[in-house]
Amino acid sequence: MSSKNRYDNDRPEWIPYARQSIEESDVEAVVQTLRSNYITQGPRTSWFEEALKEATGASHAVVVSSGTAALHLSCLALDVSVNSVGIVPANTFVATANCLKLAGGGVIFADVDPTTGLSQPSHFKAALEESLSDSLPVKALLPVSYSGSCPDFEGIRDIADQSGLSVIHDASHSLGASYRTSDGSICKSGSCAHADAAIFSFHPVKSICAGEGGAILTNDEALARRARRLRSHGVERSQSISEQYGPWAYQQEELGLNYRMTEMQAALGYNQLARLGEFVDRRLEIARRYHEAFSVEPFARVFNLPQLDERSAWHLYPIRFRNPNCREQAYAFLKERNIGSQVHYIPLYHHSYYKDIIGREEMPGAEQFYASCLSIPLYPSLQDSEQERITSTLKSFCEQVD
Ligand SMILES: Cc1ncc(COP(=O)(O)O)c(C=O)c1O
Repeated sequence: MSSKNRYDNDRPEWIPYARQSIEESDVEAVVQTLRSNYITQGPRTSWFEEALKEATGASHAVVVSSGTAALHLSCLALDVSVNSVGIVPANTFVATANCLKLAGGGVIFADVDPTTGLSQPSHFKAALEESLSDSLPVKALLPVSYSGSCPDFEGIRDIADQSGLSVIHDASHSLGASYRTSDGSICKSGSCAHADAAIFSFHPVKSICAGEGGAILTNDEALARRARRLRSHGVERSQSISEQYGPWAYQQEELGLNYRMTEMQAALGYNQLARLGEFVDRRLEIARRYHEAFSVEPFARVFNLPQLDERSAWHLYPIRFRNPNCREQAYAFLKERNIGSQVHYIPLYHHSYYKDIIGREEMPGAEQFYASCLSIPLYPSLQDSEQERITSTLKSFCEQVD
């Protein structure tokens, strides 16, 4: 196949399961940056950080080169590294677990609710209790707001507090989401009201995009300072260093990385963030339309719907097939008709890397969710006519397998 034909998204009739929403002002923001004095970490990175603080209510934001970098730095900055273990939902992208391995630590998987794909407090508690016989201590819980919906963060924080653990919220799917607490107040995803750190990804399929990019949000000043230092080689610049070594001087105080974001990415992320509300509203509107369309036969006999969580960022719309054989058939049926879909996710312990180091586990909730789930197209620029095409194609499928 020639490289020209490799990309489904280039086919005019193709509807992907997810895609970025770029408008002319985004293009202008990036082009203006290329003509400015800074093209790597500079003023636009600071603007983006300030805007993220405002959007989430967290006191500090540290913008980095990817969500994976944000997870890795969060582990390092919280000392969740060598000789420690973190608990990660089995239903997530590999990066949520990989950050622990990259930081030199270990991974334990928590099972998930088979209807939502979320790890809730009971799942973290069970994984923590099972881990007590292991030699290395658990130091962190890494809840994931899978698909854009938040789990019970208060309950997860309570479990962490009872055992002196850190909480790193992988909020890659949930920028723009919020959740209600037991006293009725509303917390924004990324506010860190119940987490030591939260991370976002700005990959093109997420709530906003920066091409690639990520951020760490926290209310802990020392953690933010350390994450900033680790983002740039572990190097510090300060008055006392200048006085000691000269006005040009900097000091490497620990081993860090280059996880800086370019100014072109920061300009795009900053410009997109101004439209976050619009993006999330449109995603919710599409989710509501799917809900309405699928609440009648023949759909209801063939698959179940995600809960219509009005506070979700609606990163994904995962339907769940009653008969697991139907999922694979539906994937092929949609693809033949130029509609993309995807499975989120293969339980992490199925991956050969984790099979080799942990041994295969079977978690009933994660297995059940994995066997049945399929994410269908959902993104702000999905046209109503395209959504109708998706719905009518799924209708034909359901009638055929009924
Ligand atoms: C749940 C989750 N965590 C982490 C990441 C990693 O983010 P990035 O691709 O920006 O490194 C992703 C991205 O797909 C994700 O979905």
